[in-house]
Amino acid sequence: MEYAEYLRQLPKVELHCHVEGTLRPQTVADLARKHDIALPTTDVDRIYDYETIYEFLEIFRLVNSTVIEAGDFARIAYESLEDGVKLGNLKYREMFFNPTLHTTRGVAMSTIIDGLIDGCRAAENDFGVRCRLIADIYRQDPPEMALQMTQEVLANRRDEVIGLGMDAAEAPDPPEKFFESFRVAGEAGLHLTSHSAEDGPPSNISTCLDLLGCERIDHGYHILEDDAVVARCRDDGIHFTCCPTSTAVVYGWPDLTTHPINAMMKAGLLVHLNSDDPTMFRTDIGKEYVDFVGQNEYPPETAKQLVRNGVDASWLDDAEKAELHRAFDDEIAALDKALAG
Ligand code: ADE
Ligand code: ZN
Repeated sequence: MEYAEYLRQLPKVELHCHVEGTLRPQTVADLARKHDIALPTTDVDRIYDYETIYEFLEIFRLVNSTVIEAGDFARIAYESLEDGVKLGNLKYREMFFNPTLHTTRGVAMSTIIDGLIDGCRAAENDFGVRCRLIADIYRQDPPEMALQMTQEVLANRRDEVIGLGMDAAEAPDPPEKFFESFRVAGEAGLHLTSHSAEDGPPSNISTCLDLLGCERIDHGYHILEDDAVVARCRDDGIHFTCCPTSTAVVYGWPDLTTHPINAMMKAGLLVHLNSDDPTMFRTDIGKEYVDFVGQNEYPPETAKQLVRNGVDASWLDDAEKAELHRAFDDEIAALDKALAG
């Protein structure tokens, strides 16, 4: 077995993937036709071209205006998980969705959540992959809107919705702006995470951990600018959900051998790999491992450690994590044999 195929076939957990960034080009075209929505080009593949996070977020919004009915949400969740399984042997995902991206267009919270859950259940039934959901604050929203969204998620609570996160452009809107939403979600028992130090200072990580109560950090690359924050996160065992390709594109680290994820690993931080917005960045969870591990010429041991970190960073309970580790160990043993033979 070739090393690239081995990396693709490693069983994986993914904790940083936005369902709205997983729409297949054909699905965007289908939904646009179904709902009579005009797109800037009929060549949907060309829609996914941008150079900055701001351009990206504009397209993110446009593409998602085609997702309206519960069945549309079910379709995108299902296809997204199918792609993860077929392209990267995905076993478990905690998947972001941005409620206000949809509710501000008049879509009901229950339509979003029930639709996504239907799609997740169908994918679990067909492919064995499990998925839980994390509602994301869109940080360019006013704090009052984020709080209302959080309360609405709690009012429409389902077992599958296990966390609150925060995304969109970090630089203009610091995390403390959303303290109240995180407080309410934390008190209600949701897990907490946030995009942080992706496009902002390392102090944002401290704010997310200390003020907002986040349990892990999404991205986190600018942590390297502050040794004290690095030491604290290393000592506290904070996990970082890193995304090589998406940040290579919009934050100017096109060479994965000099991407800050490498220095984070060297500094002893706990990282694992994720696809972020796979179709929008023309990647998938398998390709993230093939490209990042392959281009850096890391050995299988490193790839396996990244995979294990993903399991440990998840919000599964201890018994579920132990079970997943056992299942991964069995699959990996067979892959190790195939790689050697
Ligand atoms: N929303 C979807 N993907 C994102 C990313 N990589 N950064 C910030 N917001 C996002
Ligand atoms: Zn993200």
